[in-house]
Amino acid sequence: MTQTASELIPLRTSWRSCTGEPIPHDELSLLNEFVRSKALGVFGDSVRFQLVAARSGDSDELKGLGTYGFIRGASGFVVGAVDKRVNNLEDYGLLMEDIVLFATGLGLATCWLGGSFQKDNFSARINIQEHEVVPAVVSVGVGSDNRNIVDRVIRNVAGSKKRLPWNQLFFEADCITPLSRTKAQKFADVFDMVRLSPSASNKQPWRIVMEGSSIHLFLQRTRGYRKPMFSDLQRIDMGIAMSHFQAVTKEMGIGGSWERTEVSIKHPDNWQYIVTWIC
Ligand SMILES: Cc1cc2nc3c(=O)[nH]c(=O)nc-3n(C[C@H](O)[C@H](O)[C@H](O)COP(=O)(O)O)c2cc1C
Repeated sequence: MTQTASELIPLRTSWRSCTGEPIPHDELSLLNEFVRSKALGVFGDSVRFQLVAARSGDSDELKGLGTYGFIRGASGFVVGAVDKRVNNLEDYGLLMEDIVLFATGLGLATCWLGGSFQKDNFSARINIQEHEVVPAVVSVGVGSDNRNIVDRVIRNVAGSKKRLPWNQLFFEADCITPLSRTKAQKFADVFDMVRLSPSASNKQPWRIVMEGSSIHLFLQRTRGYRKPMFSDLQRIDMGIAMSHFQAVTKEMGIGGSWERTEVSIKHPDNWQYIVTWIC
């Protein structure tokens, strides 16, 4: 990879229009190797990721996996199975987003699918076990030059281009005062990259509170958003934000680690504590 995380993150957008061409051989091998390396999350969850890629001639089989027409011409999907455990979805989001950024670096188009995919087909494809779930998948392919109409409509409905302003996402330790870039210091650039994270229906549920050298991540749930037939997609969103956070801190040489701590600060009732980065 020649590009840094903070170069790759702004390059990534959900891309639902692909040409149908197979992923070139060298890129496919690199992606396969990377997918296999992403097996353990920061909360200790093991994930079995598999790249189900099309080779010439088997695109019909892939089409059969089913995305309800949301994705056109993808040459493959990254599918993962994770154990049903407490923080499994955050780990799933984190590891899968690492894969998304890697694929972006290979010049491939990707799109997260948490609702518009046929779970049974993908679960069968990865030979799901009783104790596992397939919470979401990611389509991968050679992107078309232009987005098709379906892609443009979905992006319009979700408002995909937009992100919430800083003052609604990042806070000082009282959880009310918006964090200024000056106070965020070296983390300002890191937070910029968290803000570009993809999220289900672009709801952007991540809230960050800076308390000295501790950075707390909270999930502010979107009321009425959770659907019983889908996984808890907003917890996956939190994992994605963690992926961007740790990729950029690593690039900037900012040391630290994730810990679940007793957070004593008073936070709004509708915020759920996820994890803290201890610098
Ligand atoms: C967990 C998750 C689930 C998603 N599920 C779908 C989906 O089912 N169908 C779809 O078309 N896009 C899906 N998306 C893509 C989002 O709509 C997209 O990330 C968001 O609108 C922001 O746009 P961007 O990714 O281009 O920055 C999902 C994204 C995430 C993170």
